[in-house]
Amino acid sequence: MKPKIEIVICMGSSCYARGNKISLELIKAWLNEKKVDAEIGFKGQLCSGLCSKGPILIINGQTYQDVHPANVLNILQTAINGVFA
Ligand code: FES
Repeated sequence: MKPKIEIVICMGSSCYARGNKISLELIKAWLNEKKVDAEIGFKGQLCSGLCSKGPILIINGQTYQDVHPANVLNILQTAINGVFA
């Protein structure tokens, strides 16, 4: 079954160095805590071509720019709000 939500984190060097290294760990811990493995797919990808606007996170095809460890979990909560209702 295809996950309801797909999260893609940019692992290109710019995004990785500017926050996605930490955001990656925060998202993994969040997914583990929520136990939503079947509903949410999570993967990394190479440079998304938006380095100047990064760090980049993509949720169900929508690109979020300027994502940092301080706001990544808020972005996730907002993006999936209602999906599991
Ligand atoms: S490294 Fe993320 S957009 Fe280029």
